[in-house]
Amino acid sequence: MDLETEVAGLRFKNPVLTASGTFGYGREAAELYDLALLGGVMVKGVSREPWPGNAPTRIARAPGGMLNAIGLQNPGLDHFLAVDLPFLRQYDTQVIVNVVGHDEEGFLAVVRGVDGQEGVAAIELNISCPNVADGLLFSQDPVLAGRLVAKVRQGTSLPLIVKISPNVTDPVALGAACAAAGADALSAINTLLGMAIDVERRRPVIANTTGGLSGPAVKPVGLRIVYDLARSLSIPVIGMGGIESGRDALEYIMAGARAVAVGTAVFRDPLAPPRIIAELEREMENAGFTSVDEAWAAANPKAKGAVS
Ligand SMILES: Cc1cc2nc3c(=O)[nH]c(=O)nc-3n(C[C@H](O)[C@H](O)[C@H](O)COP(=O)(O)O)c2cc1C
Repeated sequence: MDLETEVAGLRFKNPVLTASGTFGYGREAAELYDLALLGGVMVKGVSREPWPGNAPTRIARAPGGMLNAIGLQNPGLDHFLAVDLPFLRQYDTQVIVNVVGHDEEGFLAVVRGVDGQEGVAAIELNISCPNVADGLLFSQDPVLAGRLVAKVRQGTSLPLIVKISPNVTDPVALGAACAAAGADALSAINTLLGMAIDVERRRPVIANTTGGLSGPAVKPVGLRIVYDLARSLSIPVIGMGGIESGRDALEYIMAGARAVAVGTAVFRDPLAPPRIIAELEREMENAGFTSVDEAWAAANPKAKGAVS
């Protein structure tokens, strides 16, 4: 079975990555398995300065998943470069740095800071976080998104992946603006804006009022958006949202994803990423595929570049 795949000129030994924010910077998972098993690691969002994140309560149960409003808490760029990147560098896996900012300058500072650092394979721009005040600013207007991507593009020669929000009417228009501005790939989806009410306390469960929905409940939404992006745009897509099994991963690949990321599943099963790699191999075999390339877009005949 050929599990290798390519996204934006980067080779991944297999198509299974860890989704940003559900894996920290890999330290905890590294106590359980060899991170070199993974196709890649998408680290928790990194900002120019340390961000404290939102006040608790920050997570809540939801049917088929969870709500979170962590608020992009992270120790900042300097800490990432001094502590987390050297740790991740030890492992033979592709490290993708998820970047967040309040404004164009904030994004650009982190991008410039990680550009040229040994061990950074690519950048994932998070313009789709629903849990900070200005988190969706750039997603909600393709013109603003395009401007940000164009600016960031000038700050790095690393492959640039832009994370697409499902909380917009037309994710393809957003993806198209990012592609036109120089994005090399898209990742989809981030969490869906939601909320929960605490009846006894007579207020929203989450202190931030709203949170992002993730987990199996969002898989159909993620598949739809990946399918639409893959058939409309020629840059590759990394699919995520509710992947819990190898079969889920294969569904995303067949919808048009060149690689996938596992997020919320790790909270229930910390070994989910290596398990999903093994399951994916079996599922592909059962379905009669011999490579990721062959499975890619098999259910999406209009995907750009797909052989119909
Ligand atoms: C607790 C938590 C924290 C997250 N933090 C980030 C983040 O820092 N940056 C980002 O781009 N996405 C973040 N996400 C979104 C995930 O990377 C992923 O896109 C989303 O959860 C859908 O995948 P899943 O259903 O497999 O979790 C976070 C998700 C969760 C549940």
